[in-house]
Amino acid sequence: MKLFSSVNDVSNIKQLVKDALELKANPYAFQSLGKNKTLGLVFMNPSLRTRLSTQKAALNLGMNVMVMNMDKEGWALETQDGVVMNGTTVEHIREAAAVMGQYCDILGLRSFPKLNNREEDYSEDFFNKFVKYCAVPVVSLESATRHPLQSFADLITIHETWTKKADGTKPKVVLAWAPHVKALPQAVPNSFAEWMCKAQEEGMVDFTIAQPEGYELAENFTPGAKIEYNLEHALEGADYVYVKNWSSYKDYGKVLTYPDGWMMNNDKLKFTNDAKIMHCLPVRRDLELSSEILDGPNSLVIHEAGNRLWAAQAVIKTMLEEL
Ligand code: CP
Repeated sequence: MKLFSSVNDVSNIKQLVKDALELKANPYAFQSLGKNKTLGLVFMNPSLRTRLSTQKAALNLGMNVMVMNMDKEGWALETQDGVVMNGTTVEHIREAAAVMGQYCDILGLRSFPKLNNREEDYSEDFFNKFVKYCAVPVVSLESATRHPLQSFADLITIHETWTKKADGTKPKVVLAWAPHVKALPQAVPNSFAEWMCKAQEEGMVDFTIAQPEGYELAENFTPGAKIEYNLEHALEGADYVYVKNWSSYKDYGKVLTYPDGWMMNNDKLKFTNDAKIMHCLPVRRDLELSSEILDGPNSLVIHEAGNRLWAAQAVIKTMLEEL
C-alpha cells in the first residue's frame, strides 16, 4: 500500500480488520519491521488522538517518528503553480513536500478543508499535491473530505463488540447527525459512510444515515445507505449509533436551521436495540451528545479512540512490508 486516503485504497477490509486485531493482541510482534525507518507526521491543524495513536503505532513497529506542526512551526506554504510568490507565502509545496520525503520513509498528513469553496475542498488539491511531490507512501491523518484512520478504527470497534447471531443478522448501524454551534467539515461522516457502505457490501453491517433536510452528504460517499429524515424512525432497532455533526454539503459549509430533538440522549436510546453509542471525539457535551450517554454503559467512545492505535498500526505495517 503506497497510499491510505480512503477505503478504496484497501484491497480487503475484512483482512485489514483481522490484522489490526492481531496487532492488538500482540503489539510488539513486528518491532524489527520498522527498524531504522522514519515516519513523519505533518499537521496543518490540531489533533490529540490522531497524533498520539499514529505516533504510538509507529513506535510499536520499531520506527522513529518526527512530528511537524506545519501550521505553527513551518513556513507559510504556496500551493498554486505559476504565481509570483511576492505575498505572504514563503515556500512552495513542491519543495516542502519533496524535502520531507527526503527525511522520511512514510509520511502522514492532516489538512482540513477551508469550507469556503466546495469544488476546491473536494478536489483535495493540497493533499494530492503533497502525495505527488513527497514521493514516499502517505497516510491520511484526515484530509478535506475523509478521515480513513478514524473510520477504520470505527469498523474495528463494531466488528470487535458485535456478538454474532445464529441467524446471521447483521448489526444495524446508524450515522446520526447531531447539533453543533460551529460549521464542521464532512470528512468524518463522509468517510464513515464510505467505510460502512463497503462493509454493507461485504455483508458486515446494515447501514442507515439520519439527518435533517439540507444535511445530505455527497452521494458518492453513500452508495447503498438507507437515508432517513426522522431520527426516531432511524433509531428503531439500531445496534450502533454513530453520532456526529457536519455542516451542509448542498449549501456548502453552512450551519442550517433544523428541528429540535437531534441530540442523542437516554430518551432516544429507548428507540434502539440498547445501542452502543460512538463518536470520533472531540465531542461537545450536552450539545452534540448528552453527558448521561457519554458517562453511561452504552458509550463506546473511549474504546473507539483506543482502537485508533491498532488501525494506524495495521496500515503502517502494510506500508512497511511493501517499502
Ligand atoms: N478523532 C480525531 O481524529 O481526533 P483528533 O482530531 O484529536 O486527532
